Amino acid sequence: MTKNQIKNRIVKLKDEINFHRYNYHVLDKETISESALDALKYELFKLEQEYPEYITADSPTQRVGSQAVEKFVKSSHFSPMLSLFDAFSEQDMLDWQERIGRFLFPKNANFKIPWNYYTELKLDGLAVNLKYHQGKLVEGASRGDGKIGENISSNIKTIESIPLEFIIPKEVDFKRVGLKGSEIIKIIKSNWIEVRGEAIMTKKTFEKLNLKYQAEGKPLLANTRNGAAGSLRQLNPKLSASRKLQFYAYDIIFYKNNKKINVVLDRERAEKLTKMLGFKIVPHNKVCRTLEEVFAFHRYWEKHKEKLDFNIDGVVVKINELDFWNKLGIIGKAPRYAMAYKFSAEQGTTRIKDVIWQVGRTGILTPTAVLEPVRLGGALISRATLHNMDEIRRLDIMINDTIILERAGDVIPKVVSVLKNLRTGDEQKICTPKKCPMCESKVIKVGEEVAYRCSNTRCFAVNLRQIIHFVSKNAIDIENLGPKVVEQLINAGLISDLADLYNIKKDDLLLLERFAEKSAENLISALNERRKIDLARFVYSLGIRHVGQESAQSLASIIISDSSIDLAKFGDQSLELSVSDFINIASQFDLDKLSQIDDFGPKVSQSIIDYFQDKHNLKILKKLDKAGLKLIIKKTINSQLAQNSKIFGKTFVITGTLNSLTRESAKAKIKELGAKVLSAVSGKLDFLVVGDNPGSKLDKARELRIKILNENDFLKLIEQ
Ligand code: IVH
Repeated sequence: MTKNQIKNRIVKLKDEINFHRYNYHVLDKETISESALDALKYELFKLEQEYPEYITADSPTQRVGSQAVEKFVKSSHFSPMLSLFDAFSEQDMLDWQERIGRFLFPKNANFKIPWNYYTELKLDGLAVNLKYHQGKLVEGASRGDGKIGENISSNIKTIESIPLEFIIPKEVDFKRVGLKGSEIIKIIKSNWIEVRGEAIMTKKTFEKLNLKYQAEGKPLLANTRNGAAGSLRQLNPKLSASRKLQFYAYDIIFYKNNKKINVVLDRERAEKLTKMLGFKIVPHNKVCRTLEEVFAFHRYWEKHKEKLDFNIDGVVVKINELDFWNKLGIIGKAPRYAMAYKFSAEQGTTRIKDVIWQVGRTGILTPTAVLEPVRLGGALISRATLHNMDEIRRLDIMINDTIILERAGDVIPKVVSVLKNLRTGDEQKICTPKKCPMCESKVIKVGEEVAYRCSNTRCFAVNLRQIIHFVSKNAIDIENLGPKVVEQLINAGLISDLADLYNIKKDDLLLLERFAEKSAENLISALNERRKIDLARFVYSLGIRHVGQESAQSLASIIISDSSIDLAKFGDQSLELSVSDFINIASQFDLDKLSQIDDFGPKVSQSIIDYFQDKHNLKILKKLDKAGLKLIIKKTINSQLAQNSKIFGKTFVITGTLNSLTRESAKAKIKELGAKVLSAVSGKLDFLVVGDNPGSKLDKARELRIKILNENDFLKLIEQ
């Protein structure tokens, strides 16, 4: 992108984000999923980091939450309601740990980590601040912009799990959790306390309510978060009561003479105290001693989150010891001492770079979007099926569009919608190809069918067979890539020809049935090992008609002799030929040249010529070149021998019967010494070897003054 394009993209991103944020935070209307919105915000954040000159004060990256809605009375929080920095990977968490270590111990790089982590489930609802004075609930507010929220006390009071008055625990109960009761009670009874937490709608309530609303013909709730937010941020407490919300506390702040104080040492005990005062807390939260334990907690809940009766979108990791909270402080609007370690999002945004067409077993052409890779549901996604032209029209998809992509569970990713406001005018219409991308036959539309198909009924079978042959044992030899898997790869849109094999990513494979981490890794590394292939093996792998392993060997020799490769330069390593050099040499072949090769009859020669004249084949070869494939010519004993031989590079024709060796072994000997055996005598021939009962070749050679060797001369020549 040019600088101007980046500036425009930033402006469009800001408008788009602001539009959805306003709907989401102010109107409680979900016009985009939270994770897709996060993806847009992340793109904006990255662009702004790279081009800080384009950051404006009104950028969505510069604020937390949103302003309070006018219809509510405002409520100022005693301490700001902070947001959290997000982490999306273990590496992000390790970086955080290192950052805070460096912050606390700038002079000691080898410090021993003196803190524990308190890991909590990250509930997906509405953040609420409750103010208690002398143990009684005075006010309940939404977060708003972090400093001022909306006073939603009447609605809050309909939530049964919020105590209107603290339960004052007995001294023995305090003792049981290692707390000094009398002091805490004194503070509670004479001061302000803020209890913060998440108001949520359980999944069960959500389903029940939606069934009811459906029966009554009322609009349905979009999700549990929306159910909670929409219930609290409206003016009718009766409606709030009917929504049966719950409140889970995740923070408690004590004040003495209007100053924040710590009455407990750590988050673990603070949570126990909150529970004793009458609040619901998440029972699964726990202390972890290391990040490894945090990762295990995160992994466990990412896998088992469906078991819970409420929705969570990650894990909140806080330093357990509250003393460090004061030392670490805040950066902007989020604390240093905590992180939101999110689960991998199921929706994200990305750009369609291109659309390619796959031909399936029945000849149907399926459009597949080639995407700017995006991480979703734990995998890096670079392709998505667009199904057919009707679907493309329904979604109004164009090449270069920014799209919302979804991958829920292990399901294949799908395009949910296009963000048309982000268009720049550089988008291109997606057209059905006129010719089949595999065999170049005409593409037809049958009757009323939605699909287009290749008119060549053998197309898929031929392609499938070609790829299966390419990876087979005697060809490039890819273990565990049998016919079934090849077909699976074609059907999933990962490959349409053999060159595509080299572009498969591990994450693409993880989306397929029967592929797990290990098997995907194995296939990728097997393919990577075959980025360098023996030239003769490669020629055989191409599956040229009538070219078996033997002929492939001969063809490889001609290619070597036509190339600029200097066999004399063989060092300890093999020599390499690029696929583009290979193409240049092979596409020059003509009948005249090939028919001189002894083992090539006219059928083989013609087939080779046809193969290298075919546009589709050349396209595949060019793709292989682009994928970085290299053809190797191994240093063999023969080639050392050949370099030193006197007949290296010379041409021979044999006529008549030899007595001391068969014609085949004579030919082999000549080849071994780096010379070539031709079948016809021409002016360019170097030697004619004459046995008993020679044919007309002898006369022709004499005519052309070619050097003639009898069997003895020949033997002497090859034995020196
Ligand atoms: S702690 C300074 N703990 O996640 C710490 N937040 O941006 C502030 N959330 O809107 C929050 N579960 O409402 C914390 N166990 C938890 C949480 C949690 C959900 C929400 C919170 C806030 C957002 C973080």
